[in-house]
Amino acid sequence: MKEKLVSKFEELYGNNGKINTYFAPGRVNLIGEHTDYNGGHVFPCALTMGTYAVARKREDNKLRFYSINFEKLGVLESNIDELKYNKNEDWINYPKGMIWSMKDEGYKINTGFDILFYGTIPNGAGLSSSASIEVLTGFVIKDLFDLDIDMTKLALLGQKAENKYVGVNCGIMDQFAIANGKKNYAIFLDTSDLKYEYAPVELDGIKVVIMNTNKKRGLGDSKYNERRSECEEALSELKEKLKINSLGELTEQEFEENKYLIKSEIRQKRAKHAVYENQRTIKAVEALKNNDINLLGKLMIDSHNSLKDDYEVTGVELDTIVEESLKQEGTIGARMTGAGFGGCAVSLVKANKVDDFIKNVGENYKNKIGYEASFYAVEIGNGPIKI
Ligand code: GLA
Repeated sequence: MKEKLVSKFEELYGNNGKINTYFAPGRVNLIGEHTDYNGGHVFPCALTMGTYAVARKREDNKLRFYSINFEKLGVLESNIDELKYNKNEDWINYPKGMIWSMKDEGYKINTGFDILFYGTIPNGAGLSSSASIEVLTGFVIKDLFDLDIDMTKLALLGQKAENKYVGVNCGIMDQFAIANGKKNYAIFLDTSDLKYEYAPVELDGIKVVIMNTNKKRGLGDSKYNERRSECEEALSELKEKLKINSLGELTEQEFEENKYLIKSEIRQKRAKHAVYENQRTIKAVEALKNNDINLLGKLMIDSHNSLKDDYEVTGVELDTIVEESLKQEGTIGARMTGAGFGGCAVSLVKANKVDDFIKNVGENYKNKIGYEASFYAVEIGNGPIKI
């Protein structure tokens, strides 16, 4: 892979100077959805699918970007002094946003660079292809300019790029999971203070299967920001009586006793999801530690139902694929993953049933929805590396 990418880089940009190659993963969230901007817990892991970059420093201020995934767009040029969001520039807003974010925090990026990307994560599918590019760009810059930045800071800079440059009010989960990924471990992260612990995912005889509905979603055009404001409003209503900083501080019982403070039924449902999903995530990690896989599976199913009925971020494609997967012998649990509104679902499936699972769910999904789904039996991988 490395040779192929470097040779494409040389073909585009010439072969002089020191050329470096890097990789950053994508991520899948096992449970804890739409909790990261509510001060709750999440439980994602990095994947071995991800984004590669080949890069070389320049002597002037020019930036040149190219992606093998978007060949038709060709090489796009910019400048380290002209970093402004441009809708027509498509995917380049992610690396540019990251450069902007780092410069804005005072990191010395004093020349431009040439960069080539190649991603193996499906785009817009809820596996964080954009956060992967952001964190990867930060990792490349850290190396090229010899900057002292730890991985959590890199994640925060990526989130800032997404919030302030791209305009999506996302939480910290994606960038954090990518920056701090560890092979065969999921990350149990408390988003209220960024304390985290690695939990081994030793699923004897069980595979993590990602199911892509192939219904594309763009976070920007989705109802993501709207859900976030609904939760913020519900929190401020609860604060009239409760001394809390986030919905993640409440237990189910505290929520039930105080939900009358939230004046709209919709906001009550949104807040209920945030509170219950956070508690489910804590229970799920406990279940995994106790090797209680069936309880973990049940919590995943409850999570999906809550995202469907209370948070209303699923849609017919995600509901169908989860429903069909739960009909299969050998399925332990399944739920949508990521922001929702399309994209991917994640399931735990007995390893010896994976082939039947993919065949049956694939056929039934196509019959009901009219187009094909894609399936990936995935491995949990490491965070960013220089290769
Ligand atoms: C997207 C966001 C994350 C998180 C999830 C939902 O992936 O980028 O911050 O909010 O949606 O859990």
